[in-house]
Amino acid sequence: MAKIFIYGAGSIGCYVGGRLLAAGSDVTFIGRARVADQLRDRGITLSRHDDSRWHAPPERIDVSTDAASAAAADLVLVTVKSAATPTAAAELANVLRPGTVVVSFQNGVGNADVLRAALPQQTVLEGMVPFNVAERGPGAFHQGSGG
Ligand SMILES: NC(=O)c1ccc[n+]([C@@H]2O[C@H](COP(=O)([O-])OP(=O)(O)OC[C@H]3O[C@@H](n4cnc5c(N)ncnc54)[C@H](OP(=O)(O)O)[C@@H]3O)[C@@H](O)[C@H]2O)c1
Repeated sequence: MAKIFIYGAGSIGCYVGGRLLAAGSDVTFIGRARVADQLRDRGITLSRHDDSRWHAPPERIDVSTDAASAAAADLVLVTVKSAATPTAAAELANVLRPGTVVVSFQNGVGNADVLRAALPQQTVLEGMVPFNVAERGPGAFHQGSGG
């Protein structure tokens, strides 16, 4: 099974990664210590505007604060804010295998170009998240609109 890494586990990263996990994918989250500790303690809970809800307990969550863990990735979803993209690109350039697919799931023009410039041996694609997500509490992320 393809190893999917979420680089920048915040609102979008935890929500999209959680949805992939719910669908049975092999997902690893890379994020800050605050979020990593919360996912390790509480797991992930996703909710939606249609009142649906899904929870994964801590033992189902693979999370790291170390970008080097992305060396194992087949696919990386970049979900940091635009200002953090140059750092993300530099960190990923140090660790990704040639041929790894990287998708920018970010708002803002130019993020994919920043990633492409730093990752000439990887395939960088542009993604889109057409809905809003908010962090509602430790490990809890809510999709507030359709799309
Ligand atoms: N939230 C939405 O509803 C929404 C909807 C559509 C699109 N988007 C887009 O999605 C992207 C992410 O937004 P978001 O709301 O999910 O932001 P967010 O909640 O701030 O999530 C990004 C996370 O990545 C972390 N991060 C930054 N640099 C990192 C690094 N080098 N290593 C590990 N973790 C790192 C951030 O930590 P620090 O804060 O400590 O740097 C933060 O926890 C943005 O481009 C945004 O425009 C968001």
